[in-house]
This record gives sequence, structure tokens and C-alpha cells, in this order.
Amino acid sequence: MKKLRLGVLASGRGSNLQSIMDCCQRGSLAAEVVVVISDKPSAYALERARQAGIAAFGLEIAAFPSKGEYEQAVVKLLQQADVELVCLAGYMRLVGEALLQAFPNKIMNIHPALLPSFPGLHGQRDALQYGVKISGCTVHFIDEGMDTGPIILQAAVPVLSEDTEESLSARILEQEHRLYPEAIQLYAEGRLEVKGRRVYIK
Ligand code: GAR
Repeated sequence: MKKLRLGVLASGRGSNLQSIMDCCQRGSLAAEVVVVISDKPSAYALERARQAGIAAFGLEIAAFPSKGEYEQAVVKLLQQADVELVCLAGYMRLVGEALLQAFPNKIMNIHPALLPSFPGLHGQRDALQYGVKISGCTVHFIDEGMDTGPIILQAAVPVLSEDTEESLSARILEQEHRLYPEAIQLYAEGRLEVKGRRVYIK
């Protein structure tokens, strides 16, 4: 089977990137990460990519006249690498028009909460503070909203009374590392069909 060409955008430590690269390496994911781009040039995700021999670029948004032009530069790098699916892995920015237009229905994200609950930058902390007993993670397609696109897969974890933001995040992260490659594999197999808000798995 032809490998799906992935471009990963990450702002931080890149453990989801690592799990995707590991699954590609093991052959449990029929894909290859061909480029990694970060809005934070010091992100450890870039280091992980370089260690794996993958092209890695840090683009400081402040170096561009506007967010639109920053995104155009990101799009150019993704297109130059012939990326077929863009995976956001801890990418802490709202995706804008340039990326959405260049990759319509071809951008996925992982979020550390059961959407539509607790969107935004602090999914785990917000769930804990709200007092829910179950949280988890969501893989979804990106649309113009903040964590609002069609949901592909979700996994639930319990929230325990002794949990801190760190312990809950770690429990969720374990599921993220399993769930994201699974969703990408479904995409690679052409098994995801989006109709309105619903994603059907064929
Ligand atoms: C992950 O928990 C991911 O779900 C979250 O950031 C973390 C990145 O970890 N993403 C968001 O909160 C997006 N709003 P990683 O860099 O180790 O993959």
C-alpha cells in the first residue's frame, strides 16, 4: 500500500508526533511523516523530527508581517513536501484561511478533552476544574472554529478525585498516543466519510 504523506504541525514537546513516527516506523501506520513545522523554533518536536531524519522547520510568526503570510509560508513548505494530510499535534494556534483553503478536509487535530466540552488551550485543566468524572481525547477534522470540526474518534478516561492537572493529562496522553495513529490509519485506508458534522467509518 502506498504510504500517506503526512505533514505535522507542533508547538511543543512532540510526544504525539513521536507516537505517529513510531507507528510509521513499525508499519502499523501506512504513512510517513515527510515534514514537521513549528511556530516555536525551540520546540522539542523539531528536534525529534531531525533525529528521525525528517525535514523540520521553525517559523517564528513574529518574523512575518501578518498571520496570513506566516500561514502562506507554512502552506508552501507543506506543498513542497507533497503532503496529503496535515496533522496538528499540540499545535497551539487557531488555523486560518490560508491553511484551510490549501488543505480542505485534510487537516486533523487531537484535543485533550471530549469535545465539544472544554475546547481551547487548557482542555485537561478546564475538565478538572469543572468537576466532570469522565474526560478523554478527541481526534477531529479542522474547520474554521476553535476545536469545532467533525469528530473522527474519541477515547474516554476516568477523572479521579486525587487527580491533578498533571496526572489527568498523563492518563489522557496515553490514550492520545493510541488514538491519533488509529484515526490517521483510517484516513490512509480511505475509510473516513464526512457528511455534514458526522464522520462515518466505512
Ligand atoms: C497534547 O495533550 C495535545 O492533545 C494538546 O497538547 C498536547 C501536546 O503534547 N493539544 C491541545 O491542547 C490543542 N488545543 P505533545 O506535544 O507531547 O504531543
